[in-house]
Parts: sequence; structure tokens; C-alpha cells
Amino acid sequence: MSPSVYPPGEEFARKAHVQGLEAYRELYSRAERDPEGFWGEVAAREVHWFEPWSRVLDWNPPFARWFADAKTNVSYNCLDRHAASHRKNQAAILWEGEPGDQRALTYQELHRLVVRFAWVLKSRGYRAGDRAIIYMPMVPELPIAMLACARLGIIHSVVFGGFSAEALKARIQDLGAALVITADGGFRRGKQVRLKPAVDEALQDCPGVRETIVYRRTGSEIPMQSGRDFWWHDLDAAASEDCPAEHLDSEHPLYVLYTSGTTGKPKGILHTTGGYLTHITATMKWVFDLRQEDTYWCSADIGWVTGHSYVVYGPLSAGATTLMYEGAPDFPRFDRWWRIIEKYRVNIFYTSPTAIRALIRQGEQWPDAHDLSSLRLLGSVGEPINPAAWEWYYRVIGKQRCPIVDTWWQTETGGILIAPMPGAVPLKPGSATLPLPGAVPGIVDLHGQPVGDNREGFLILRQPWPGMIRNIWGDPERYKEQYWSRVPGAYFTGDAARRDSDGYYWILGRVDDVMNVSGHRLSTMEVESALVRHPAVAEAAVVGKPHEITGQAVCCFVTLKRGDWNHDQLGEELRQWVSREIGAFARPEEIRFSDALPKTRSGKIMRRLLREIVTSNSVTGDVTTLEDLSVVARLAAQQDEE
Ligand code: PRX
Repeated sequence: MSPSVYPPGEEFARKAHVQGLEAYRELYSRAERDPEGFWGEVAAREVHWFEPWSRVLDWNPPFARWFADAKTNVSYNCLDRHAASHRKNQAAILWEGEPGDQRALTYQELHRLVVRFAWVLKSRGYRAGDRAIIYMPMVPELPIAMLACARLGIIHSVVFGGFSAEALKARIQDLGAALVITADGGFRRGKQVRLKPAVDEALQDCPGVRETIVYRRTGSEIPMQSGRDFWWHDLDAAASEDCPAEHLDSEHPLYVLYTSGTTGKPKGILHTTGGYLTHITATMKWVFDLRQEDTYWCSADIGWVTGHSYVVYGPLSAGATTLMYEGAPDFPRFDRWWRIIEKYRVNIFYTSPTAIRALIRQGEQWPDAHDLSSLRLLGSVGEPINPAAWEWYYRVIGKQRCPIVDTWWQTETGGILIAPMPGAVPLKPGSATLPLPGAVPGIVDLHGQPVGDNREGFLILRQPWPGMIRNIWGDPERYKEQYWSRVPGAYFTGDAARRDSDGYYWILGRVDDVMNVSGHRLSTMEVESALVRHPAVAEAAVVGKPHEITGQAVCCFVTLKRGDWNHDQLGEELRQWVSREIGAFARPEEIRFSDALPKTRSGKIMRRLLREIVTSNSVTGDVTTLEDLSVVARLAAQQDEE
């Protein structure tokens, strides 16, 4: 059966930035024929430059430099240019705290707060090239800290507030950060989540950190170390409002964001200034069809790349009103998000399939109790959206009026690469549809040969694009090896996909040892390394198990050291252990004890077999290299008993 197709509504298409398939195709082929000319035009139109470039792209594979000798500043583009325009009194950020407190910051006011904080950082001696870790709840001071760093060229790395002290420490050390910007805590499901204690714990092993700056959000009692820890409000009280944006090289590092790779060590994805800004500003208009009067809400936490590109930098650079909500979608009730959409008259709403599936489970009565008629466009990101969730989102939330943009991209791509231009491209539920102008994907086999239509293969990108990853922080060899060595001359995404005969892309999921839990990337190795640090554990193998709500769930196979262990108790202890070592979002759903793990003769754990066990209860693949076939039989039988 061919899938349903949803052409753009007439009314929507008539007002869209890009109208009709022909217009899309023209734009796409213009970019294909002359990528540098195309991106040069986009960059000149969307970004303010202090000094122009002489060359758009300097491509020395796999290292790219975009607009290399030009000068610009992300903070200037997100703030100063709007604060000096008709937008100065427009809300830049609308914020709602979980307890119900609210703030509306106009472009002028946000600019003022960022300038003050940048002045604080400058006066304390931080300079372009220094590194700062930001570990904060979803309060406006988080983007303020990011924008203040960007203003001075301080490279920031935001660490999601759900990460543990251990995970935070690893990131501080890898980045060589001199400063940590944090808060006492934040609110989540009616409780205070404490952040500063995790910073204190991490800093015991981080001698490179000179200072912390602590924003007071919850007012809880926290210890402050004299000479090292400073309250944000004390420093702000003495701040000046004179701190101009530095004229930075287009390739100056903007941020490093850590993400899971295929080893136990997270990799620091490096993004730079001018190309990144060009890419995310353009996609705000192409994909979200952003208009002056829109209220735009992306529900992602700023600690993930979606929050960087499409809560903070993209919307602000494009002059939008971006909404931030601090807390959980189900607090105090399951209609919190729908209430927010109604209250702020949100026009564009961007969220993850996991969130949609969790809300579907609660029933339609929650959204139905609210007026969602302000919505004009819906978005999805982070994982494949199953057609049933798509249809629900379309019908119950969008009332069959709002196109859904299913946006494919990654931490490494910086911005969206495959997604519909909603006024131009007919939608097919479950497909991210067509590549955006300037994105040149391909689907290939193990030897790098293109596979035909409707065949599964590896998704690659054949051409550099401005928002692309520039390097892995401190590890160029890993950068080359992970992304550019599998298919010569092409970027390897790590995703499997197929293209149908209309040229639509269907993303099938990861092909490497990376799980996708609730749209968050998690490496099997990272969880395994955490488990084997526990004194009872001899060996561990971790696989993603299909899960109705979160897409995948963490399933662990564990062998124990000699001893008399209570499996129930130890199972619970190991779940908590992983939460402590990585963060609560990595907490395993299932721990399965076994006396051995299936391995190849060379000693490699055969995760593929374990994946089959958790997916289908049986093993059908090739097991000829298995050291001990009985191990597989026992693991599968154990599952049948449960
Ligand atoms: O497997 C793809 C999946 O998420 C991975 C990237 O994860 P991360 O770097 O954490 O960034 C998530 C937010 C951009 C991809 O390799 N993914 C992302 N978007 C989609 C998706 N899978 C299917 N459809 C999508 N729209």
C-alpha cells in the first residue's frame, strides 16, 4: 500500500517563503549547480558581517572553512541588529517557569542583560578562545550565558542539566574549561533539581577551573566556596552596559557540544561561527516558514543540539519570538503544553516523537480541552516518527490544518538537512521528505556504491555544508576516522535510510552502536563502561530495545563476579548506578543477568545477536563465529520464561 500524501494547503502555500514544488526544485538545483554562489548569497542576506569574505568555501577534505577571512559575531546577529531595528520592543524570549512564573524579554532587554553578563566575563579576564561550561536549568540566564560567551568568543559547552557529576567532570576535563556557569538548581515535576552540588563534586577533579558563577533560581541553601564561587546577581550588580561584540573570524569556535559516539568516551562536536549561523538562520525560514508575527516554541532542552540551533541561535538570529518552558510536560497535569500553546498563542510548535507518543497515551481529552487554533505549523525531530504518531499529531494537535515538518539532522550537521519546505513539498507521514537546498545526501552500500530506489543503505552526505561539524575537540584523527573514512570523500551519518521513487528519504535508525532513547543519543559503550565500573560486574553488553514510547530503551546483559548476589536488589542498584554515572535519562529499563555473553572467536561481544534476542526472542542471523552457541540459547530461553 502506498502511504498517504498530504500536499501543502492552498492558504498555507500562498503565504509561504517557498511556494510550490517547482520553486523548491529551482532553489535546490541552483544550490546544486553552484553551491558556493548559492551559500554566498544566503550568507549575505541572512547574516550581518563586519568584514566580507574573499572565498566562500575552503575545502581541504575533511576540513572545511566557510567564509574564512570574513568577520562576524553570533551575539551581534541575535541581538544588536534586532535591538537597533523595529524589533527592539518585540519579545525575543517568552519564558515560563514550571511553578508558573513568567518573564518576557524584549530584544532590547535581552541585549542589555547579555551585554552586562559579557562585561562581567570580560572584567574577570575571560577572552576569546577560553572555554566555559554552562550547566543550568531552562531559565533565560542559560541563553544569556551562551550569548555572552559568543559575544566575546569564549567557547561554550552546555551540559544538559540531567547529566550527572561524573559526566559533567569528563566534559569539563576534555574541554579544559576555566569557568563553570551554573545555578543552585531548577524545578522539575514540582521538585527542586539541584545542580550546584554536582558541580562541587565534579570540580574536586578539575584543577583547571578557576571560578564558578552561580545563578539563583530555586533559592535553596547551597555551599559557596569563597574565592571560587560567585553569585550571578552580585557580579551583575556591578556590571557596566558597555561591552561591544568582538569582531570574530567566521571560523572562530562558537561551541563544543558533547554527544555519544561508538566508544565509551563522548565526543566534543565543534561548531564555528559564520557558516553555522548562515545555515540555522536560513533553515528557520525554509523549514519553519517563520513570519514576523509568529510565536515559535521548540520544546527541546537547550542542553541538546536542537536547543542550541532551534531554541536559541536560529530563532534569535531570525528575529523570532522564542518560547522557553522550564519544566515537565505533565506538571501539574498532562495538559501543561497545550495550556502553554493556548496561553501564548503559539503558532509553530516543534517537539520529538517520544513526547508525542507519551502524550497520545494520556488521551485526547487533554489537548481537546484547549484552544489550539493559533497553531500554523508543527515539527518533529530526533528520531523517526511512526505514521500512527504522525497522524495523531496532525489530527488532534494540528486539526488537519497544520503541515508537519519532520526534520532530519544531527548534532554534527549543526542544522536541519532533510525536511520539507512546508509550502512546497507534499508530506508523507514517516518520511523527512526531500533534502534542503545545499544538502546532497546519498544512500550507499558497504562499498560506497549507490543502492537503487526503495533499497536500504547507509545515509551519507556528498558535499560540505556551512553548519557542518568542523572537528572533534582535541581529536582530529577520530573526526577523520568516524565520519570520513567509511565512504571516501563523503560524510558518514551513521544512519540507515531508503529513498523512494519520488526521491523521499525514509530514515530507519542508527547502524552503529548508538541507541536513540527519547530522541537522545546514548552509546552502548558508555553504559557498558559505567556498568563495569561497579564492583559486582564482570562484563556487560548493552543494546537498544524497541520501546513503545521512547523509541528505544536501554537493555543490559550483565555477567557478575563470583559472589552471592541477590539479582533483584543488584538489578535496582545497577540501574541507579548508571543514572549516577551518566544521568537519569540513561537509566536502564532492563538488566538481565547471564553467566556468559555471546562472543566471536576474537572475543568481541556480538551485540547484533543480543539485539535480536531483545527484539524478537530468537536468533536467526549468522552465528558461525560464535564461541559458545549455548550462551545464546540460554539468553533467549530466559526471556521466554519471563
Ligand atoms: O538517527 C538519527 C536521529 O537522531 C540522530 C541524531 O541525534 P542527535 O545528534 O542527538 O541529534 C538529534 C536532534 C537533531 C540521527 O543520526 N534523527 C534525528 N532526526 C531524525 C532522526 N531520525 C529520523 N527522523 C528524524 N527526523
